[in-house]
Amino acid sequence: MSSILIAPSILSADFAALGEEIRAVAAAGADWIHIDVMDGHFVPNLTLGPPIVRAIRKTTDLPFDVHLMVSPVDPLIEDFAAAGANVLTVHPESGPHLHRTIQSIKAAGVKAGVALNPASPVTLLEPVLDELDLVLIMSVNPGFGGQKFIQSQLRKIEQVRKLIDASGRDIRLEVDGGVNAQTAPSVIAAGADVLVAGSAVFKGDPDGYAQNIKALRQDGT
Ligand code: DX5
Ligand code: ZN
Repeated sequence: MSSILIAPSILSADFAALGEEIRAVAAAGADWIHIDVMDGHFVPNLTLGPPIVRAIRKTTDLPFDVHLMVSPVDPLIEDFAAAGANVLTVHPESGPHLHRTIQSIKAAGVKAGVALNPASPVTLLEPVLDELDLVLIMSVNPGFGGQKFIQSQLRKIEQVRKLIDASGRDIRLEVDGGVNAQTAPSVIAAGADVLVAGSAVFKGDPDGYAQNIKALRQDGT
């Protein structure tokens, strides 16, 4: 079993067949299902809410990794937790009190993550790192699938890897945006242990998803 987890982003799935798409990536070896929630305000795109998460919860037992790109985020946390999220990840800019938001996520009984946009500094993370189960580094500006990987984020991944190791805590380091078979090796080398991939997984026929996922794991397992 690889220590690198692959989290296909359903943003690139066929929404007309969402349940089938999730079953297909689960059968193809996905570790988590990454769900991008966008509000057309915090980011320039609009996707889905708790009813869809609840509906697709029936399709798999894999952890639901819910990436909240909404502002304000606090009023939605309980609904997403109740709908079946296992991890809720928020951006520091999506509410006035990040520490309180993280406590709300934990109080809702799910794991807590913080996401850093390409222009957001690692220092935003440091005061709350000990409260977290996951750090997500955005390697594109959030809002759309299929964008080009921003190379400057590799250094940020290395910085956060050092912080996590120094903390001695069990915190996952996830990278999201432009991850494909070409960029994955440098992302893994920089210290990531969860790779989100949308367009690189949901390309071609479902028959090819297993190969698409395999191509992202540096060790080929
Ligand atoms: C972008 C989302 C990503 C997106 C990644 O705002 O957070 O999860 O789906 O898509 P790819 O892998 O195509 O860059
Ligand atoms: Zn995402």
